[in-house]
Amino acid sequence: MATLAVNVDHVATVRQARLTVEPDPVQAAKLAERAGCHGIIVHLREDRRHIQDHDVIRLRKSITTRLNLEMAATQEMIQIARRIRPDMVCLVPEKRAELTTEGGLDVVGKRRAIEKAVHLLGEKGIAVSLFIDPNRDQISAAQDAGAEYIEIHTGRYADATTERRRDGEFKKIIKAIDYAIASGLVVNAGHGLNYTNIQRLVPIKEINEFSIGHSIIARAVIVGIEQAVREMLEIIQC
Ligand code: PXP
Repeated sequence: MATLAVNVDHVATVRQARLTVEPDPVQAAKLAERAGCHGIIVHLREDRRHIQDHDVIRLRKSITTRLNLEMAATQEMIQIARRIRPDMVCLVPEKRAELTTEGGLDVVGKRRAIEKAVHLLGEKGIAVSLFIDPNRDQISAAQDAGAEYIEIHTGRYADATTERRRDGEFKKIIKAIDYAIASGLVVNAGHGLNYTNIQRLVPIKEINEFSIGHSIIARAVIVGIEQAVREMLEIIQC
């Protein structure tokens, strides 16, 4: 059975909208753990738009499952990861203007830099995963770069606007997983997964872990709003 790692970036997105202290992604991570998730993920972006360095440090100290740090393979991020030592780093491509991670890492084109990053992180006992599109060449390059894990980018499958396109993307994912497993890689999957589109991926026994953020945080806002309003009314109307 696949495990679930919860990305709490968007808790920090709400906090940063007011530059205040709530909601706290660390508190959210602990509640996610209480619900039974197997890991916590945060993306420390170069522009620090949501998660801040102190969040990663506090998460490292307080969570009891695994901490997976998503980051670009830059010198700054590699130094931070080597210092904080998450259980895993997932290397992702990063563009300043993007709303979220667009596309997988070009491991073929950036082989040397990625290989170096994998080595520098591995020296500190940090497992490394590469976030890549479901593409044979990228999978081979990931293995050549020394990664133990890959995370298959499911965004195109999730965002497909027609059934035909979705079927096509699904088939690419299946092929990629088969090839990655045959190459000895451990396969995670994520991006754009929600309570509906994940159902087709659940029967794929080769998927080790799902990485999910937006849909869980979005649902948390909706299922939690009644209680939040009741608590405020109790204070106002007591
Ligand atoms: N995996 C990677 C590498 C990501 O960059 C993200 C988004 O931060 C996710 C998974 C989670 O995607 P979503 O928020 O759409 O569930």
